[in-house]
Amino acid sequence: MSLPENAIEVHDLVKVYRPRSGAPVTALDGLNVNVRRGEIFGLLGRNGAGKTTLLRILTTLMPPTSGSVTVLGRDIEREGLEIRRNMCVVLQENAVELFLSVEDNLSTYARFHAIPPDQIRGRADRVTERFGLSEYRRQKVIDLSGGLKRRVQVAKVFMVEKPLVFLDEPTTGMDPINKRATLDAIREQALAGGTIFLTTHILEEAEELCDTIAIVDKGKLLALGDLPTIKSLIPSALDISITFELLTDEILADLRRLPFLTFSRKRNTIDACIRSDDLSLFQTLARLAQSQRVLHFEVRSATLEDVFLELLSGPPSPDRPDRGRIS
Ligand SMILES: Nc1ncnc2c1ncn2[C@@H]1O[C@H](COP(=O)(O)OP(=O)(O)OP(=O)(O)O)[C@@H](O)[C@H]1O
Ligand SMILES: [Mg+2]
Repeated sequence: MSLPENAIEVHDLVKVYRPRSGAPVTALDGLNVNVRRGEIFGLLGRNGAGKTTLLRILTTLMPPTSGSVTVLGRDIEREGLEIRRNMCVVLQENAVELFLSVEDNLSTYARFHAIPPDQIRGRADRVTERFGLSEYRRQKVIDLSGGLKRRVQVAKVFMVEKPLVFLDEPTTGMDPINKRATLDAIREQALAGGTIFLTTHILEEAEELCDTIAIVDKGKLLALGDLPTIKSLIPSALDISITFELLTDEILADLRRLPFLTFSRKRNTIDACIRSDDLSLFQTLARLAQSQRVLHFEVRSATLEDVFLELLSGPPSPDRPDRGRIS
């Protein structure tokens, strides 16, 4: 199958759920987005934003209400079978055979995807090694911890090489070491030419991994682009961290009057995000520094989390249009 430049093209996509009881829910509300071939595309948004709904439509598990979607150049409604042949998907819910061993889960998946039998063993060796599953190979999945079960589920898709991989929150429940291995494996897959479409709530992960990030809310696109584009949506935001010798209620009250974009306190440390053109913080700090001991003061450029919180701080509305790269 010859592959088009865009692995995924979504035009005016709408999905309305009509539950038997209760009002209809518009989960996707006129979404437009393209995913380029060979990129790692990260879909972010708070709970209920419509991420899984989009993933289910793209993976042909569910039809849209309206709009057009092509995946690998094929129409999702007319050519679902051909699309399914060329993709792998890891959904949010656990989909592993609990009563099979880790090894049997991997080999069953490989056989299902028509991997030649003489290649399965070698692939299983590589995948179990890469995902730190070697010592659990012969254990039934039902006996594994939650994080390990998730690991098996993600590891499965690396038994086959498909041009397109969908991962719904792939690293949820994993410990930091395994998370790292999973991110490395995802990156390797992308370097080999595959397109990866993932959803995540872990913003550092998206920041580290994704070539393009889309932020959705209430089924609408709020922002789309690479990390610098997304970050530029909050002009010149800065992350600051200040540690006081003793953070009194008085200082806290003083600081809380400032127009922070985000603000959190842990013991004597304040972590916050400000606009760099806002001098009031620096004036307040200079004043505090004269009377109070500031032990540590650090300024960094804003993180994706700051942008995310800022973008989602108000509801999307007609006067708050889509931002970033609009495809
Ligand atoms: N089968 C369904 N029937 C009715 N409403 C649904 C159904 N599935 C999802 N929804 C609603 O559609 C909206 C989008 O849900 P979706 O699962 O796509 O969100 P999400 O971004 O994946 O959230 P999360 O981060 O919690 O996984 C929500 O309001 C949700 O309640
Ligand atoms: Mg979801």
